[in-house]
Amino acid sequence: MKRVKRFGVSIEEDLLKVVDDFIKKHKFPNRSCALRFLIRKNLVEEKWQQNKEVAACLVLVYDHHRRGLVSKAIEIQHKYPSLVLSTQHIHLDHHNCLEMIALKGKAELLRELADRLIGLKGIKHGRLVATAID
Ligand code: NI
Repeated sequence: MKRVKRFGVSIEEDLLKVVDDFIKKHKFPNRSCALRFLIRKNLVEEKWQQNKEVAACLVLVYDHHRRGLVSKAIEIQHKYPSLVLSTQHIHLDHHNCLEMIALKGKAELLRELADRLIGLKGIKHGRLVATAID
């Protein structure tokens, strides 16, 4: 485990109120946990902006009866073989499929692949959940 350092933080009262409301809303156990979360969130966003090596999960919902959609989605993924770590397919009901695609690579390429998949005709919903490695 990494060594933990303590430091004092000076902050305006109204801003601290915002922080404490945030902690309550997201059920953080304490201010330290919330600050760590916010710092890491910011670092992840920076990595994405700077086109660094990042990770993500792309979630897609689509009707698998839609002609050609599945093969098009697979064809696109095969154009980025080094980015796709794994895919999980869940049959939600008779029509709808949920697909989760785990990705790792340069941010711009991940976004490009996600946009191409989300933009396919027949995709009902798509969302890229962005993260990064410390
Ligand atoms: Ni399915």
